[in-house]
Amino acid sequence: MRGKFITFEGGEGSGKSTQAALLAGRLRRLGISVVQTREPGGSPGAEAVRHVLLAGAAKPFGPEAEAMLFAAARADHLEKTIRPALERGAWVVCDRFLDSTRVYQGAVGKVDPAVIRALERVAVGDTLPDLTIVLDLPAEAGLARAAGRRDGGTADRFEAEDVAFHAALRDGYAAIAAAEPGRCAVVDASPAPERIADAVWTVVCARLGAAQVESDAAGPDTETSDPATSAGVEARNAGDTPAAGRLDAAVP
Ligand SMILES: Nc1ncnc2c1ncn2[C@@H]1O[C@H](COP(=O)(O)OP(=O)(O)O)[C@@H](O)[C@H]1O
Ligand SMILES: [Mg+2]
Repeated sequence: MRGKFITFEGGEGSGKSTQAALLAGRLRRLGISVVQTREPGGSPGAEAVRHVLLAGAAKPFGPEAEAMLFAAARADHLEKTIRPALERGAWVVCDRFLDSTRVYQGAVGKVDPAVIRALERVAVGDTLPDLTIVLDLPAEAGLARAAGRRDGGTADRFEAEDVAFHAALRDGYAAIAAAEPGRCAVVDASPAPERIADAVWTVVCARLGAAQVESDAAGPDTETSDPATSAGVEARNAGDTPAAGRLDAAVP
């Protein structure tokens, strides 16, 4: 059976990478094969484009050109990493996906929505997430966390934008979540990571269903690491306990 596709979205420092790792771990402990990946990147070709985008090398060409580069990276990521994983029954947990382009280049960068839609049609087609967790946090708080993470290092192309830019990102994500409540769930990203992880878990259980998780946990589970992916496609740990518990029983 096809795996489930879960994406994390939100502004800088909202905790996407932290929560993607926590969710992937939790699913693995139930015996589910999980591929944890990220954008831009997640395949060798897309990682090369990531470098160009986050270094700011494409910024002089404007948000439309950046949107095209994100789409090119996404197409490669889908072809090389995401679709093969879903087809073999693994669940994919992805840190950023198409909503990032809709918000950063679309809502905030003012790229024509028709261009954004056309790029989605070409790059994504019908491989849409089954669930998108939108981590919601005031811009100032997210930027402070991101600065703490850098520990004096240089801000990347998007971290370096001003607070108004990041406040607009938050509004953009809220608008998407309101427009697509069936796919998206907004989670408050201000509490401690473990509390957010519990809230995410509750959403995953409610939206993707215990029956689905139980049947996947009972299925083939020999996911192996893919060294070709520098984003670190992760194998289920051999030490994880398979089918350690029902997803619904695990909900607090
Ligand atoms: N709930 C939280 N409360 C406080 N700090 C957090 C929380 N979640 C993550 N962090 C820290 O904030 C920084 C940004 O988190 P990260 O997961 O990298 O965010 P993102 O991937 O959304 O940019 C990291 O240093 C991380 O350890
Ligand atoms: Mg991150």
